[in-house]
Amino acid sequence: MSQFDIQFTFNGETISAISGQSVGAALLAAKQRTLRKTRFNQKGRGVFCGIGVCFDCLVVIDGASNQRACITEVISGMKVQTQVGTNA
Ligand code: FES
Repeated sequence: MSQFDIQFTFNGETISAISGQSVGAALLAAKQRTLRKTRFNQKGRGVFCGIGVCFDCLVVIDGASNQRACITEVISGMKVQTQVGTNA
């Protein structure tokens, strides 16, 4: 029996997650390493500190940019997208 009990999307792809996981943890478990791209040169960034300090994990959640994936609890039906630079 699967431990996953909710689903959300990341860039349109359906991701399964466990209630209580952070968005960042669920994406890492799904082998998604690049959560945002830098303003210059679009270099990939992802979970680094994992505790809400470094801001490397910024994503767009349900249209709201600058959300830290590592400290945001995943909710069923969320639409998460890669963030480019500091805005959506
Ligand atoms: S990984 Fe550092 S703030 Fe999210």
